[in-house]
Amino acid sequence: MILERENQLNLNDIKQQMKQMTNNERDGENLSKLVSYYQLCKAAVNEFGAKLENLDSDYQVRHDHNPIHHIEVRMKDPASLLGKLERKGLNPDINNIVGNIYDVGGMRVITNYLDDVYTVEKNLLAQTDVKLLKRKDYIKNPKPSGYRSLHLVVTVPVFQSDSVQETPVEIQIRTVGMDMWGSLEHKLRYKTDVDEGKVSKFSEKLQGYSDEINSIENNMQKIFHDL
Ligand code: GTP
Ligand code: MG
Repeated sequence: MILERENQLNLNDIKQQMKQMTNNERDGENLSKLVSYYQLCKAAVNEFGAKLENLDSDYQVRHDHNPIHHIEVRMKDPASLLGKLERKGLNPDINNIVGNIYDVGGMRVITNYLDDVYTVEKNLLAQTDVKLLKRKDYIKNPKPSGYRSLHLVVTVPVFQSDSVQETPVEIQIRTVGMDMWGSLEHKLRYKTDVDEGKVSKFSEKLQGYSDEINSIENNMQKIFHDL
């Protein structure tokens, strides 16, 4: 099951938002290249969506188990794209985006068990058209916040009308428990207007909850193996 995490932006909306944010200084050619790049990244997300769903059902047939609970997809909205470029000290130029921002298209693969995270990774990376660009394992090495997840940047060839483009997508693979913790912690930390001081008073607790969820998931995984 693939869920769209935010209302899907259409390419015209992206064009309008970009135009407004750059005070119409952006030349038309750069803008239309950017819209094409969004389209390309969206196509790459679709390719990975199909791959992951096929992988899940193949696994179900062979092993009588679904590694994937569900999948979420989102396209980075233009405001956060420009924000990210600014943080990296880069001009909002199409070449800077292509060379430096790998999460225009983003996916979350939520797995049932911990082992499933690495099963999904292994099977996806075994596909000959998929290339790994970046990998960060925040499960083996959780962030100080308690955040756990496996982050991959992978490319897939996207067949366009006149060319084939290797296109990157950021895929975060995590269990239902890690996803529950990550979504709620993100809302607490970033989405509310609570000041950082107030939130940091709770960081020890939040980190502890992450460990507790991890231990529960390990125990549930053991039951699954024993059955
Ligand atoms: P950016 O992609 O530029 O943010 O840098 P990066 O790739 O070095 O960052 P990282 O690998 O940490 O991934 C960033 C993404 O991971 C964020 O957009 C979040 O979705 C998630 N993330 C990272 N740290 C945390 C955390 O402490 N809490 C939560 N809830 N999510 C986190
Ligand atoms: Mg990132």
